[in-house]
Parts: sequence; structure tokens; C-alpha cells
Amino acid sequence: MGTHSGGRQALVGGLTNTSSLWQHVWHPVALSEEVTDEPRQFWVAGGPWVLLRLDGQLVGFVDRCPHRLAPMSAGRVVEVEDGTSRLACAYHGWRYRADGRCDAIPALGKTENISKRAALASAAGVDEAYGLVWLAPNAPLQPIPAFPEWTEAAPTDRVAATVVRTPVGAAQLVDNFLDAAHFPFVHADSFGVDEGDTALDSGDVRTEGQVVTATFTTPYRDGGEVHEHRVTKTAGPSGTVHLRLDLPSVTVGILLGCLPERADSSRVFKMMTRTDLVGDADRREGFVKEEDQILSEDLSILERYTSMELPLDVRAELHTRSDRLSLAWRQVLAAAVADLPPTAPAPW
Ligand code: FES
Ligand SMILES: [Fe+2]
Repeated sequence: MGTHSGGRQALVGGLTNTSSLWQHVWHPVALSEEVTDEPRQFWVAGGPWVLLRLDGQLVGFVDRCPHRLAPMSAGRVVEVEDGTSRLACAYHGWRYRADGRCDAIPALGKTENISKRAALASAAGVDEAYGLVWLAPNAPLQPIPAFPEWTEAAPTDRVAATVVRTPVGAAQLVDNFLDAAHFPFVHADSFGVDEGDTALDSGDVRTEGQVVTATFTTPYRDGGEVHEHRVTKTAGPSGTVHLRLDLPSVTVGILLGCLPERADSSRVFKMMTRTDLVGDADRREGFVKEEDQILSEDLSILERYTSMELPLDVRAELHTRSDRLSLAWRQVLAAAVADLPPTAPAPW
């Protein structure tokens, strides 16, 4: 992919929650426990999807019955003669298998003669990883990001921060998570150091293909004490960022997943690992509280914005050397948007 000229970027508009880029991305849509054997509606980039587990198999379809377009999330799961299950539409009872095909239309009685078009539109991908259910509307540009701190065998605690819904755009949320220059100002009440010592280590920012990785050292305040943290952040053209914090004796891993639901709504998942909690319930709860507080500090700025669009035209904002990571991520997004395959209209 490489770098792109300013001229090319000037052609690219900003990114909102309904931009077509999101149709080509793996999104975390729910905590694993939110997807059950009952159908439930989830919104992804302006479109409704229904997710459920049918005979234990995770399935995701556009939330619309091909018959009279009723939402399938209003339907229910029924068992058929051979003991397997179908998703039945609430309106006229058409029954769908896990592959989306309709194999029973009650108003026709017993018939073999069901049109191939009587099928639900499947997501290009549904998967489960790191305590989350993921969905890709169309073929995704990148795989689900790696989260080695969650999957590796090393003793660690795995916890989810409180899931939050906000009007802030998913791209704005990721952009904020990548930015470190706001720590002394926005996070003065949590980990931010004193405003007097705010020069940023510009560190190392690398773009490989569609993925940006930044490594730098930054001070974090922990009560009265300030410690240097080694930070590694990785982001591609998606709503997800991976963060690793290394201290001499502790490693923290965070996967921030920002789901663009609709034009004015995003959902924020923060899945976290930490190596020094030793399974202690109070310490786990304390960690979640701290991270919830940090997100609410960020939202207190982001929710004041009057536009929920992330500009991709570099001339729309004033970047400095300390914004190298933000700029590199915008370039990755702009390149991905410019190279999007021509897609069929959204299926809803
Ligand atoms: S609308 Fe679904 S069966 Fe008629
Ligand atoms: Fe922040």
C-alpha cells in the first residue's frame, strides 16, 4: 500500500459510522454471552443483523426475511422432526437453516418446491474471539486482530470493561485511543502526569501494508508515583486497536473494539488482560473501574464534538510531529477507502 500523495487524500471524504469501509471490516458486535440461542438484533454500520446460536453454531444474517422483509430477530428458534433447529420468522413462519436456506413455508403445506431465493443473506464472516462475537458484512480487508496477551498461556487475568454506547464515531474513538498527547489534560484525574512535563517521546511509527504499529515510552501516574510505560499500539483500517503496556513487572494488554452501529451510535468494547491481579476479585474490579474512568474522561471531550466524522483529508486538521501516529492511521484509512472494491449495494 505505501504512502499516498496529498492529492489522492484530498479526494477522500471523512469517515462516519455509515462509511462503506465498515462493510469490509471485522467488527466486534457483542460480548460472547450476549449471543444466545434466541435471535437478537445488532446494528453494524447502518444495517441491522440478527445473530444467534443455532444448534450451537454461531450464525449471522441480515435481519430481514426475504418474504415480506420482517426482522428475523422478532422470530424464534423451533425444533424440527430430526431434532435439529430452525430460525422461524415471526410473521408467516418460514423456517431457515443455519446456512440461511428456507426449507419450510407453512402456507404451502408439505412442499419440496421452495425457491433458492428463499434464503437469508449471511454475513461474509461470523466468529468468536477474546470473549467477543465478531461479524464481517463483506469480505474483510484484514483478519481479526491478534491479541496475544489474551490467548497466550502465561498466567494472566482476562476481564471486560463495561460496554459503553456513545454517539461518538467509531473512527474518532480509535483515533483518540491512538493519541497520547492528551494524557496530561484529559486524564489529569487518572493516570495523566503533571501538565509541566508533557513533551512526547515520538517513538517509532511503522506502517506495514495496512497496519500501523507505534512503540514509545510514556509516563503514567499511579497514585502519587510516576512510572515509565513501554507502549505498543497496533491498528489497521478497522475500529479495533491493540495496546500492550510493559512495565518491569507487569504486562497489560487491551483490545479496544469500536463498533459503528448507526450514524449517531457506537458501541465500545474494551477487553483487557493484566498479569498482576492473581485472580483477586477486588483487584479485577478495581482494574475495570480504572479503565471505565479513563474511557469516561475521553468521552467527556469526544461527546462535545459537533461532527461525528473523522477527517481523512490532511488539510482539515493541523498535524505536528507529535501526531505522527494519528497521521499514519489516517493515511492507512485513506488508502483503504481509495482501494475499496466496488461493492454491491448494502443488503438492507
Ligand atoms: S415475512 Fe417472514 S415469513 Fe413472511
Ligand atoms: Fe484517552
